[in-house]
Amino acid sequence: MRVSKRVMSLGTESAFEVLAQVEQLEKQGRNVINLSIGQPDFKTSENIVEAAVKALRDGMHGYTPAPGIEALREAVSQKYSSDHEISLDPNNVLITPGGKPVIFFAVLMFGDDDGEILYPDPGFPIYESVINFSGARAVPYALSEKKDFSITADAILNRITPKTKLLILNSPHNPTGSVSSKKEIEKLIAGLLHYPNIGILSDEIYSKIYFDNLMPNSMIQFPEIRERTIILDGWSKSYAMTGWRLGYSIWPKNLIEKAIRFAINNHSCVNGFVQMAGVEALNGSQDDLKNMITIFRKRRDVIVSGLNSIRNISCVNPKGAFYVFPNIKETGKNSLTLQNDLLNQEGVALLAGSSFGSNGEGYLRLSYANSMENIEIALDRMKNYFENPPKK
Ligand SMILES: Cc1ncc(COP(=O)(O)O)c(C=O)c1O
Repeated sequence: MRVSKRVMSLGTESAFEVLAQVEQLEKQGRNVINLSIGQPDFKTSENIVEAAVKALRDGMHGYTPAPGIEALREAVSQKYSSDHEISLDPNNVLITPGGKPVIFFAVLMFGDDDGEILYPDPGFPIYESVINFSGARAVPYALSEKKDFSITADAILNRITPKTKLLILNSPHNPTGSVSSKKEIEKLIAGLLHYPNIGILSDEIYSKIYFDNLMPNSMIQFPEIRERTIILDGWSKSYAMTGWRLGYSIWPKNLIEKAIRFAINNHSCVNGFVQMAGVEALNGSQDDLKNMITIFRKRRDVIVSGLNSIRNISCVNPKGAFYVFPNIKETGKNSLTLQNDLLNQEGVALLAGSSFGSNGEGYLRLSYANSMENIEIALDRMKNYFENPPKK
């Protein structure tokens, strides 16, 4: 059997491969501290779980409207409108099974064979994978450690050509935890006004996870580009609901009907009881979210200073999400070697920076969605690896 060229062009997320390796080692009795996984180590709040259980008991077992149930589209629009001081029409909201399908829909909507799509490097590996699948050319723009991995307008604008169809942005950012600065966003938007046909996909899945009261800007806040901006967000990270598969997206008026068609063709609709849980997450108490962020901030401080105390490693201070992206260039080893060595020799699972694009080489990604105790043990093990190499 020969599968299509398009399918052969799909990439993957190495996080899932490392997870399988971790499980294998654990089966052999090894203790592994997993800092590779991109999901909060918190349980979904009880009130959210209860809302889903109630909806199931109330008989919410059938198909639901393809764009999402009215109560949830309404809740998203109210929350978004108040958070960002705009007026968002619920008819522009599409509920999806997780945030990921929105990447697929947006990229396929713009990704013709002769088109180009810009995406961040380092960046979430699914962008490049799906762009390749669409047939468009994947054009990376660099995020540099010198700028704390935050976007620079020039690095993006310089890569635009007459073929550019879509620009993907991501803030707070996976894998670096950077947050785009308002100054650079404004400069970027001023530049984009010269290219009115380029769409924008702003992946804001970590929008609620930020520190020091420095709330990230949403691209929805800029009216000059609203009619071509797609926002991706969801419940996975903010409400510790990765396994529920619940996301949302905001589409401009001229694209929402096309996005709904993608939904109808792809998954029909999202489980009603999961959507009721989503309503409760947005409208219920936000205390657990606040608490989670306080804990993440403490861990961030410990992991950044711990990494900076290891010989030949340096780490910038991220402003959001729950990742750090330390520089390992001075160690003289490449990131995949370190990923394998640290897992097999020290029992610390983390990801090679190279799995996030060629600019990720020379870095590692560690997720601090793990207990403080485990983070401290992992730091000790890393220190041991880097500072006490085995005698030959
Ligand atoms: C940058 C980014 N976008 C999107 C997603 C997908 O989120 P979800 O699990 O809601 O599909 C992730 C998950 O890791 C992510 O890191």
